[in-house]
Amino acid sequence: MNITFLLNGETVELADIDPTATLLDWLREDRGLTGTKEGCNEGDCGACTVMVTDVDGHKALNSCILFLPQLHGKAVRTVEGARGPNGEAHPVQQAMVDLHGSQCGFCTPGFVMSMVASHANGATDHDTQLAGNLCRCTGYAPIIRAAKTAEAEPTPKWITDDRSFSCSQIPRGEAAGQRAEPPFLPNSADELASLFAEHPSATLVAGATDVGLWVTKQLRDLDPVIFLNRCDDLKEITITDTEARFGAMVDMNRMGEALADLHPSYAEMIRRYASVQVRHAATVGGNIANGSPIGDNPPALIALDATLHLRKGDARRSIPLEEFFIDYGKQDRAPGEFVEAVSFLRQPDRLKAYKLSKRFDQDISAVCGCFNVTVSDGTVTQARIAFGGMAGIPKRATHVEAALIGKPWTRETVAAALPYFAEDYSPLTDMRASAIYRLETAKAMLERYFLEDQGEITNVLEVSA
Ligand SMILES: Cc1cc2nc3c(=O)[nH]c(=O)nc-3n(C[C@H](O)[C@H](O)[C@H](O)COP(=O)(O)OP(=O)(O)OC[C@H]3O[C@@H](n4cnc5c(N)ncnc54)[C@H](O)[C@@H]3O)c2cc1C
Ligand code: FES
Ligand code: FES
Repeated sequence: MNITFLLNGETVELADIDPTATLLDWLREDRGLTGTKEGCNEGDCGACTVMVTDVDGHKALNSCILFLPQLHGKAVRTVEGARGPNGEAHPVQQAMVDLHGSQCGFCTPGFVMSMVASHANGATDHDTQLAGNLCRCTGYAPIIRAAKTAEAEPTPKWITDDRSFSCSQIPRGEAAGQRAEPPFLPNSADELASLFAEHPSATLVAGATDVGLWVTKQLRDLDPVIFLNRCDDLKEITITDTEARFGAMVDMNRMGEALADLHPSYAEMIRRYASVQVRHAATVGGNIANGSPIGDNPPALIALDATLHLRKGDARRSIPLEEFFIDYGKQDRAPGEFVEAVSFLRQPDRLKAYKLSKRFDQDISAVCGCFNVTVSDGTVTQARIAFGGMAGIPKRATHVEAALIGKPWTRETVAAALPYFAEDYSPLTDMRASAIYRLETAKAMLERYFLEDQGEITNVLEVSA
């Protein structure tokens, strides 16, 4: 596979690359660019953060779980390229120096590159922007002060130049049809459909936030692989008066932005999904297709009665999302079939999505409870309640729903429904939570949903003295 991208302002053309070589390894081992650090090698610490620019803008990404083919046609900037062509410091670098934002310095290149990207985007929610960067010794206050101080400075030209270059000058690359053997880099859903139908044993790589770890942690050989990152038609979001539809390659940051008006609680839950870096890469299609019982999108989408759109070759089918998850590790997906999109009908917003994790930011859910209860004239007329982390699959609480429907929407009805959680779920004890804790918190989430509906403030971040 041949790829072309821009690295710190210079065009790089690579031939016959190992498709699962990570950008981090290539930078450090092949290019000697050792400013980018390796901490965890699994997307958690942000020491390896680089900025990647494409038509959608500037993105901070973790280079440790970014495969080289995912960069084709994009512009990459590492900490070595944060400074200008004459050696002048980027405003965030200068502010980090002036405000003592670094001690041992191991985390600093990653922080700087997250700050370079958020500075270029004009983002000022620094706590959120830097939640994926861990520092053990400086403490965050000087770093946040540096980010705030740099806000006033304009974006340097060498950073904005990345955008025009990546949009206009980088070639579209080899068409999939020109290659007889994997790895493949199809340019559309149609190309992907025919390639995957021909090579049904191939591993699809979307954002690689799961697949990347199979390589870096499990040392798996993924051959053959098909990369989805050039399929722009799978990145479409379509919101009409009646429906919201998300292509499989819509990443979590875009998904959160699109949901902010439709279902703000779902969007807020996505803000706590991993970190900015992971959300720029992770796709909704990957989060569904991986079949994980603790993925955050499936319970919210099931509560919204979402439909999953699957495709194999030219054949398409649509199924209720909840029917996709058959059992732990088993989904209703045939060899050569892929997720094309997920959609749900527009509806009045009754959805609340509660993500419970040990750490507020950047943590996988122990329990994710999503509630969509319709009340008419004081009576529950519909209830869709779905959980992650409570079973081997994302699963509806059908007994609890039945205990609510047709009853008055009162505290007594909610109390009477709580025991039915034990009928719906037999959760596991694992490192994230015990079975009993999971069951009790699921009940507490329904109580919270009811109380919030009565206007009570239950979000600890909203409570003030
Ligand atoms: C640090 C870190 C934090 C995380 N935090 C969270 C979190 O808070 N919440 C959460 O839910 N997840 C979290 N994850 C898990 C991960 O981000 C998600 O599961 C993600 O959505 C996977 O999407 P992806 O595009 O990266 O998929 P990939 O890793 O590319 O693929 C995942 C699987 O799906 C398959 N696949 C991908 N796209 C398709 C498609 N269109 N059709 C068919 N199969 C496909 C792949 O072949 C693979 O089997 C985290 C991961 C990391 C590394
Ligand atoms: S090395 Fe920790 S996120 Fe990449
Ligand atoms: S300065 Fe040492 S880890 Fe951040």
